[in-house]
Amino acid sequence: MIRIAPSLLAADFGSLAEQVGEIAGEADLLHLDVMDGHFVPNLTIGPPVVASLRKHTGMFFDCHLMVEEPLEFLDPFFQAGANSCSVHVEVPSVKEAIAETKKLGMEVGLALNPDTPFEKAVPYMDSINMILIMTVFPGFGGQSFMAEVLPKIRQARDFITNNSLNVFVEVDGGIDHNTAPQSALFGADTFVAGTSIFKKDRPWEAARVLKNSIQQALGETNGNEKFSSDPTTRES
Ligand code: DX5
Ligand code: ZN
Repeated sequence: MIRIAPSLLAADFGSLAEQVGEIAGEADLLHLDVMDGHFVPNLTIGPPVVASLRKHTGMFFDCHLMVEEPLEFLDPFFQAGANSCSVHVEVPSVKEAIAETKKLGMEVGLALNPDTPFEKAVPYMDSINMILIMTVFPGFGGQSFMAEVLPKIRQARDFITNNSLNVFVEVDGGIDHNTAPQSALFGADTFVAGTSIFKKDRPWEAARVLKNSIQQALGETNGNEKFSSDPTTRES
């Protein structure tokens, strides 16, 4: 299953509800980037904005918490209408934050910065619904995809397969019609895209093009082999 998650960070903040309406029909999740000015050097949206958007759409809200103290914000985001919250493995309270997210009844995501090895996520893999693999350093939209992260996507996918886990693999940062298919071939199934959707004249069409590019790439591979062999070395 392929899921497209437009990132609101690249939308026009002056007309958020309208922008969400534009992509709702082509998106599977709405990715909401929450930044606290500490974990990352930027400030974005908080629970009041999520609560306001909730009145306009029934979309699945995929909240990406780039915050140093997630425990302080999980309940407010849940109350605001979040469906899932992803916390970063790099924050000291990650274990408690995962437990609290689950306790509140939200889906649990675990995010890894580009330079954080997959091994850091291993102790939590059977407690989460999604692993969020950052393909840029978090903080800002519009950055270039880091291809050196691709092997980590494969590592996560292999771990999930080998342990029969039910965990989505989300990629976030510099995702477009070139990098999404690449990520898919390494095992990603959920694709966050800000710039390549909301900065286009027709965001809904861009979301559709993105999904098609992934489906086409996967369709060209050989069924079960798609996640287990290296597409860069496979013979055609
Ligand atoms: C970066 C955020 C991303 C960002 C992606 O810190 O986590 O979700 O919105 O934006 P693009 O798609 O522009 O790289
Ligand atoms: Zn994000």
